Amino acid sequence: MNLDKVFANNEKWITSKLEKDPCYFENLSKGQSPDILYIGCSDSRVTSEELMGVEPGEAFIHRNIANMVVSIDLNMMSVLNYAVRHLKVNHVVVCGHYFCGGVKAAMQPQDLGIPNPWLRNIRDVYRLHKTELNAIAEENDRYNRLIELNVQEQCINLLKTAAVQDAIKHRGLQVHGWVFDIRTGRLIDLHLDVDHLLKDIMEIYDLGE
Ligand code: CO
Repeated sequence: MNLDKVFANNEKWITSKLEKDPCYFENLSKGQSPDILYIGCSDSRVTSEELMGVEPGEAFIHRNIANMVVSIDLNMMSVLNYAVRHLKVNHVVVCGHYFCGGVKAAMQPQDLGIPNPWLRNIRDVYRLHKTELNAIAEENDRYNRLIELNVQEQCINLLKTAAVQDAIKHRGLQVHGWVFDIRTGRLIDLHLDVDHLLKDIMEIYDLGE
């Protein structure tokens, strides 16, 4: 990639924005009040804002390998707390995607070094849903289902946090699980029954806010 092109593109982008609104960047600099926190995969093909068609200022974004919500990940938890407690987003989305290399790697019997503990969280999802997954004959179907179940489990991990429990209870925060299909470009809502998932875990994970 020619990085000079990046700066040339940036100049073109500035021009196109200012043509439509001369105050565009001045207004952008005044502050942000995004409506949605998007947690997605770092995969270069899954471009968060572009696939949702949102403009700068509309979505708070966190991306990591395989869109994980890990309770001891200070980065993830800082993003979540800032978005939910300070920016007061109304929606938190975990967006997985088919053809996810992170999920694929977690299905291989292989020592991958540094990413091992990260990917182990996905192996834990497999273990939780082993009966369902092992009943799927076709490996590709099993892979796709693990991607969906991983999104579901990461949504459950969101529900285990005090910030999310508190915001659901007091101001109706919504949690959503989505999958992006790279092959078609389509964004799919998994229509997770979040009320049911929440009820199911609160016996053990209620933080009493
Ligand atoms: Co991925």
